[in-house]
Amino acid sequence: MIELKHVNKIYGKGDGAVHALKDVNITIEDGKFTAILGKSGSGKSTLMNIIGALDSPTDGEVFSDGQNLTSMSQNALAEYRNKTTGFVFQSFYLEPTFSVLDNVAMPLIIAGMSKKEREARAIKVLTDLGLEEKIKKKANELSGGQKQRVSIARALVHEPKLVLADEPTGNLDSQNGAEVMALLRQICDMGKSVVLVTHNLEDAKHADNIIFIKDGVAQMRGKLAEGENPYADGGEA
Ligand SMILES: Nc1ncnc2c1ncn2[C@@H]1O[C@H](COP(=O)(O)OP(=O)(O)OP(=O)(O)O)[C@@H](O)[C@H]1O
Ligand SMILES: [Mg+2]
Repeated sequence: MIELKHVNKIYGKGDGAVHALKDVNITIEDGKFTAILGKSGSGKSTLMNIIGALDSPTDGEVFSDGQNLTSMSQNALAEYRNKTTGFVFQSFYLEPTFSVLDNVAMPLIIAGMSKKEREARAIKVLTDLGLEEKIKKKANELSGGQKQRVSIARALVHEPKLVLADEPTGNLDSQNGAEVMALLRQICDMGKSVVLVTHNLEDAKHADNIIFIKDGVAQMRGKLAEGENPYADGGEA
C-alpha cells in the first residue's frame, strides 16, 4: 500500500512558482486498479511520479508498506524503484533499433542477471502477453499498439508490485487503446497494483478506484458509477 500524507509539490520559486500538488492525502491499495483522472495541467503526472518515487514532494510524506520514502537516500530510492515499480509512458521509450527481446530484457541488466536468465524471463513475459511472434523484430518495425504492449512487457519483466502508466493510450487509435486498457486490467487481476494516469473518463471506468485531481487538489473516490462524471461534479468539463 502506498500512502501520501499532506503532500505538496511546488515547481520553481518566487513569482514563477507553480503549486502543482496541494495537500494531497491519498492511498493506493494493493492489487487494485487506480486511475488518476483530471484535465491537462491538473497535476496527474506530478502525482504519478511521486507515487512511483521518480520524484519527491516539496513537503509531506510518502509511505510504501509503512516505509517512509521521503527519508530515503537517492541510492536507496533507485534500488526501491528498480525492485518495486514498472513504468509505462505515452511515447513508449523503446530503443528503436533493438529487438523486442533486448528491449524487454534491458531492465534486468541493472539487476545483475546473466544474459541467459534475462532472455528467459523476457521470453516468458512476452509469451504471457501474446507477443511471442514479435520477439526477434526490431522495435521500429512494430505498430503503435504492439510497441505499447512491448513497453508493458518491459515494465513487468522484473516482477514489480506496482505498475504506473501515464496516458498509455494517448498515441493509440481507439481499438489499440481498448486492448491496452484490457491488458492493464488483466495485469491487475494477476495481482499487481496498477496506477493509470488519464484525462479520459472512458478509460477511468476500468478502474476500481478514482483519484480525481483538479488544480493540484486530489480527491479519492471509489469506482465510477454508471453515468457518474467527476468533471461535471467539479463544475467544468
Ligand atoms: N518540471 C516542471 N517545472 C515547472 N512546472 C512544471 C513542471 N512539471 C509540471 N509543471 C507544472 O505543474 C502543473 C502540473 O503539471 P502535470 O504535468 O503534473 O499535469 P498533467 O495533469 O500531467 O497534465 P497533462 O495532462 O497535460 O500531461 C502544470 O501547471 C505544469 O505546467
Ligand atoms: Mg501529464
